[in-house]
Amino acid sequence: MKFKIEYNISINEFLEMVESVGWETYTEEQVKRALDNTMYMVKVLVNDKLAGIGRVVGDNSIVCILSDVCVKPEYQGKGIGTIIVNRLRELIEENVGVGEKMQIELTPTAGNEAFYQKCGFKYKPEKITGMYLWIKK
Ligand SMILES: CC(C)(COP(=O)(O)OP(=O)(O)OC[C@H]1O[C@@H](n2cnc3c(N)ncnc32)[C@H](O)[C@@H]1OP(=O)(O)O)[C@@H](O)C(=O)NCCC(=O)NCCS
Repeated sequence: MKFKIEYNISINEFLEMVESVGWETYTEEQVKRALDNTMYMVKVLVNDKLAGIGRVVGDNSIVCILSDVCVKPEYQGKGIGTIIVNRLRELIEENVGVGEKMQIELTPTAGNEAFYQKCGFKYKPEKITGMYLWIKK
């Protein structure tokens, strides 16, 4: 399989991905606003076909949220989700200055905690219900 990472997601691609994993959909106008206000976004193409997306929203300084990470069912279990999370994490890390720290938060869909743990996120349900990762330099 030939993977390619790109840094833009069109409205139609976003809706295609959301529908492929069975999430409730949005209006095109809403998706446009969301994408326009996104800090970082990536998509993975396999043999030039859309396989997965993910994005990060936040304040560009202290806190951000990993959002809409999804891989089409036929491409799941092939490492694409990990590529998406790692690339987004690298983009965040590149923009945290020396002496600064930034927290990446996420709310995992049920059953996917282990996936995010494998990507380095902390899961401590006895203390906090979401998952998080501090990027410190
Ligand atoms: C969750 C999701 C993004 C994972 O993407 P993926 O491409 O299938 O994941 P990967 O192939 O990169 O998996 C990486 C590792 O996590 C593990 N993993 C993936 N999903 C898992 C799960 N639900 N439970 C336990 N482990 C899981 C894989 O087995 C793999 O382990 P390994 O490295 O030991 O082989 C994908 O299943 C998906 O899009 N699901 C539907 C949408 C969704 O719920 N997204 C999450 C929103 S918070």
